[in-house]
Amino acid sequence: MAQEVRGVVAPGRNEPVRVETVVVPDPGPGEAVVQVQACGVCHTDLHYKQGGISDDYPFLLGHEAAGVVESVGEGVTDVAPGDFVILNWRAVCGRCRACLRGRPWYCFDTHNARQKMTLTDGTELSPALGIGAFAEKTLVAAGQCTKVDPAVAPEVAGLLGCGVMAGIGAALNTGAVGRGDSVAVIGCGGVGDAAIAGARLAGAARIIAVDINDAKLATARAMGATHTVNSTADDPVEAIRDLTGGHGADVVIEAVGRPETYRQAFYARDLAGTVVLVGVPTPEMKLELPLLDVFGRGGSLKSSWYGDCLPSRDFPMLIDLHLQGRLDLGAFVTETIALDQVEHAFDRMHTGDVLRSVVVL
Ligand code: APR
Ligand code: ZN
Ligand code: ZN
Repeated sequence: MAQEVRGVVAPGRNEPVRVETVVVPDPGPGEAVVQVQACGVCHTDLHYKQGGISDDYPFLLGHEAAGVVESVGEGVTDVAPGDFVILNWRAVCGRCRACLRGRPWYCFDTHNARQKMTLTDGTELSPALGIGAFAEKTLVAAGQCTKVDPAVAPEVAGLLGCGVMAGIGAALNTGAVGRGDSVAVIGCGGVGDAAIAGARLAGAARIIAVDINDAKLATARAMGATHTVNSTADDPVEAIRDLTGGHGADVVIEAVGRPETYRQAFYARDLAGTVVLVGVPTPEMKLELPLLDVFGRGGSLKSSWYGDCLPSRDFPMLIDLHLQGRLDLGAFVTETIALDQVEHAFDRMHTGDVLRSVVVL
């Protein structure tokens, strides 16, 4: 029996989002219905609404969520009704060339639910990142449900489903920050701050936060930055070199997604250092660099999708560290809101004083 629930739908390009009745089918083979308890508002939801991702309207928004499995379809053995889970958008296939080479965090053929959720008139919805969790219940592939310790608050747990995982993973997985490393993070929004928290967790000795906004730098310090640079006042490349014995940082994480900040990251790293691009550029952006510098400075230039996370490995581990008091995921929750306040949360994104607004259901 399909169920009717309330969900936040983006009806068309740049149209305000609306709370609509969404029809959620019973889970088919390999699928699960999850009762959503909390879902963070991410820039990607806004990009869906604005038409920056695709034209497959209407979208069911929301993808940073935690909740409880309500029912599972045939053949599902990894999760069961009652399990507390974080939803992920990397349900690995186990069979693609990345998975077969033992690198499932790069999986090239991730799963989503096969059946469609719809509006009451039968219009098929496109769930954001294959999740669609600004809804009381959502239908996903069972592999998108990652069990974690239920002692964590849902509004905190859900954050690992996207942006916070992207930042922590940029430091831990992609950048492979190690004990004693120097790290610089350019851009201290939710993603950059998560990279700072990840660098602290990894034992980085020096963590330099760079932003254009002093309030963001104050938050970055609370997240673990040891030094801060306002790049409207000081040249960030010079400042990072000065703070690292004149050399540059071992790992520089770019969490803005712009050519000028990428160039800063490129020149602010030490010889043989690593640049990690976790900020997401837009299609028209171009980067120009002297090829001799790319060659001559050595090291590695990496990009980080979803923090190169493997949800089954990383989500339970990070929740455990949070519960032990070693990773303050709660610090990323600026406000909790209701389902009908998503549009308000989009507005607040531009004011720059919110790390995450989280819808609580
Ligand atoms: N130099 C340094 N910092 C900058 C610059 C700049 N030129 N321009 C913007 N910033 C800072 C902002 O002040 C803000 O603190 O970058 C931060 C961006 O934060 P958010 O807008 O909150 O974005 P966030 O959610 O952290 O995502 C960062 O990663 O996932 C992607 O699409 C996302 O590209 C975005 C990036
Ligand atoms: Zn795969
Ligand atoms: Zn997201």
